Amino acid sequence: MAADALIVVTHGDNIDPALDGAIASPIKDAVALGDFQFKAGRTLYVQKPAGLKAQRLVVAAAGAASVKAFKNAVASGLAQLKGLGVKHVVIALGNADEATDKHAEAVAAAAADAAYLYRDTKPSAQPAPVLSKLTLLCSKLAAKDVQRGLARGAAIAAGVTFAKSLANLPGNYCTPTYLGEQARKLGKDHGLKVEVLDRKQIEKVGMGSFLAVAQGSAEPPRFIVARYEGAPKTQAPIVLVGKGITFDSGGISIKPSADMDEMKYDMGGAASVLGTLRAIAELKPKLNLIVLVPTCENMPSSTAVKPGDVVTSLSGQTIEILNTDAEGRLILCDALTYAERFNPACVVDVATLTGACIIALGNHNSGLFSPDDALADQLVAASRNALDPVWRLPLDEEYDDALKSNFADMANVGSRAGGAITAAKFLQRFTGKFRWAHVDVAGTAWKSGAAKGATGRPVGLLTHFVLSHAV
Ligand code: BES
Ligand code: MN
Ligand code: ZN
Repeated sequence: MAADALIVVTHGDNIDPALDGAIASPIKDAVALGDFQFKAGRTLYVQKPAGLKAQRLVVAAAGAASVKAFKNAVASGLAQLKGLGVKHVVIALGNADEATDKHAEAVAAAAADAAYLYRDTKPSAQPAPVLSKLTLLCSKLAAKDVQRGLARGAAIAAGVTFAKSLANLPGNYCTPTYLGEQARKLGKDHGLKVEVLDRKQIEKVGMGSFLAVAQGSAEPPRFIVARYEGAPKTQAPIVLVGKGITFDSGGISIKPSADMDEMKYDMGGAASVLGTLRAIAELKPKLNLIVLVPTCENMPSSTAVKPGDVVTSLSGQTIEILNTDAEGRLILCDALTYAERFNPACVVDVATLTGACIIALGNHNSGLFSPDDALADQLVAASRNALDPVWRLPLDEEYDDALKSNFADMANVGSRAGGAITAAKFLQRFTGKFRWAHVDVAGTAWKSGAAKGATGRPVGLLTHFVLSHAV
C-alpha cells in the first residue's frame, strides 16, 4: 500500500516465514549486522525500502503477543517517525495473528499520544506534527471488528486529549470559571444539557463543605452538571464525579514549595470525567450519563477556612476541618450528596486525592475503592480492557475510627497511616444511598520530571466502564 510509512509490529523472537520478502530481508540483514533485536522497544528504520510502495519501513518489536505489548511497539514505531514529514502511516501485524478491535483501539490511543503537543502557552513550541492519517491492515473478515475498535479508540483518544489539554493548562488559565465555560462548550458541540452553578446557586443548594474550601480564593467556584441522555429517562443514569481543584496550595495548612506547581493538576479528576463525557457523546451508546464537577481553588487568605473550623455539609453531617490540605474530600462529599437526586445506577468519583495513594501504588495503578464487589469487578474489567490499570484497596470499617472528632460528626483527616484508605472512608460516609466506587488518580493523572504532563487517565477506564452499561 502506498503510504509515507509502514510500521510492522512483530512479537516473539523470529519473523513469520510467510512475511513478504521485501520486509523480511531487511530484518534478516539488520539482525545479521547486529542492528536489530527482537526485544520489546527495539525498532528498525529503513528508508525507501526496496519492493514496497511505502516510503519508509519501521519494524517494531513487541516482545510479547499481548495487545499491551502491541500498543507499546506501535508507540515506539511512531516515536521513530517523530519529526519526519510523515502524514499517512500504515500499521500491520507482522506475525500470523489477526488484528482485532483491541489492536485498533490501541493504535488510535498510541497515535493520539504521539500527535499530542502542548502549545497553548508556549509560542516557541515546535510546529504541530503533520501525522494526519492512519491505516490498520487487516483481513476482510476482521474489518468490521477493526472499524468498531478504531471508532471507539478515536473517541477515547479525543476524550484523553481533551482531558490532557484541560489539565496541562496553568492554574491562571484553567480556573473554575474556565472549566465551566469548557463544559458549556462541550455541551453545545455535542448536544448535551449543561448547567453551571455559581457561588450564589451553590449556597442555595447548601454545599457548606465545598464552599468552605472555595472561600479562601478570589476566584469564584463553579458546580458543573452535564448530562448525556442516550436512553429513556426511566433508565437510571451512571453518575461520574470529578475533583476540580484548579490549584491546591494546601490553604492555611500550606504545602511545601517543592513541586507545588504540579498542584495545577489537582483538577485531573474533573478533566477525566469531562473527557469521558466527550468520548461517550461521540459514541452515542444507549444509556444515561451525568457528570458532576465541583471546582474551586484551595488558597490561604484572611477569608480562608482555618484548621479547627467546623462546617455543615449538604448531607447535614458536620465536619471538623483539621487540615485544610485535605480539601478534595470536602468538595467531593457535597457532590456525592448532590448525586442522590438523580437516583443513580451507580456513582464513581475520580480524584487526585492523596499523596498516600502514590506511596501505596506508585505511578502505574490508580487506587480503586468500593464496598460493592460487583461494581469493583466491573471497574477492574474495564481497566484491563482499556489498558488503564487500577488496583483495589480495602475499606474495612476499622479504618473509619481514624475520622472521629470531638467537635463534629467527623474530622476531615485521620493519621498518616493508610491515608488513601481513610480518605475513601471519609467519602463513603456520603454514599449510603447508591452503589459507589472511588478512583484515586493522584499517582496516575500526570507525569512529573522531564516529561511533565497530563496523562488523560482514567478516561480509558471510565469510557469502557460506561460503555459496558449500554443496553
Ligand atoms: N491534591 C492533594 C493530593 C496529592 C498530593 C495528589 C500529591 C498528588 C500529588 C490533596 O488535596 C492533599 O493535599 N492530600 C493530603 C491529605 C492529607 C492532608 C491528609 C495529602 O495527601 O498529603
Ligand atoms: Mn490538598
Ligand atoms: Zn488536592
